[in-house]
Amino acid sequence: MIFDTHAHYDDEAFDADRDELLAGLSAAGIGTVVNIGASLAGTEATVRLTQEYPFIYGAAGVHPSSTDELDEASFARLRELAAQPKIVAIGEIGLDYYWDEPDRKLQKYWFRRQLNLARESRLPVVIHSRDAAKDTLDLMREERAEEIGGVIHCFSYGKEMAREYLEMGFYLGIGGVLTFKNAKKLAEVVAYAPFERLVLETDCPYLAPAPNRGKRNSSLNLPYVVAVLAQIKGMSEEAVICGTEENARRLYRMG
Ligand code: NI
Repeated sequence: MIFDTHAHYDDEAFDADRDELLAGLSAAGIGTVVNIGASLAGTEATVRLTQEYPFIYGAAGVHPSSTDELDEASFARLRELAAQPKIVAIGEIGLDYYWDEPDRKLQKYWFRRQLNLARESRLPVVIHSRDAAKDTLDLMREERAEEIGGVIHCFSYGKEMAREYLEMGFYLGIGGVLTFKNAKKLAEVVAYAPFERLVLETDCPYLAPAPNRGKRNSSLNLPYVVAVLAQIKGMSEEAVICGTEENARRLYRMG
C-alpha cells in the first residue's frame, strides 16, 4: 500500500474533517502515514495522532522558520516527545533561506542541535532545505549526517546536489511537484536517482499534484505522483507503490 512519508494532518486545514478523512485513507489504498512535526505544538499534536491511529507514525522536530520558539526548556520537551514509541524520525529540520527568518545563525544553531538529538536518539532525520543548498550540505557534512541518515524532503535541487545527498546515504522525498508542467529539473533527478532511494510524500495540506494543484492536498492525491514516477522509471504503478513502501520502511527503520 501507499506510504506517505511526510504529512501535516495536525494542520488547521484539516480541522473540519480530519477524522473522516483519516478514517477513509486505508480504503483508498493508503497504508501508512508519517506525520511530521513543524513546531513544538505540531509535534505534541503529532504524538496525539500516533496514539489515535494505528497507521500513523510521527516525526518530532521544529521547522527552520519556527526555530525562534526554541530554548533549553522547549528543547528538553522536544527530546521527551522524540522518545515516544511511534516517533520514527527527527524533523522537519534544516534551513530555509526563502523566508529567511529567523536569522541564519539561529536557524543553523537549532539545525545542529536537532541533528545531534537525532544522533543521540538513534533516529533518522527529515531535512527541509529551501534556497539553502550549499549551507545545508556544508552543515550536514560538518555534523557527519551520513552517520545519522534520513530523507531530503520535497527535494528541489538539481542532479549534482542529488548526487551529494545520495552519496551520504540519504533518501529523496518526491511529491506533487513532480506532476507540475515546469518540473523538468525534478524529473531529471528522479530519472537519475536509484529507485531504492525514492520515497513518496505529500507535504499536505500543501503541494497538491496536478490536476488538483492549488487545492488542499492529502494522501488521497498520491496516485497522481505514482503515475508520473512509474512513467519516468518505466515501472508499473503497482511496482512503484510496493517499492516505495519498502524504501520508506527502510528509511524510517520500521523493520
Ligand atoms: Ni513539511
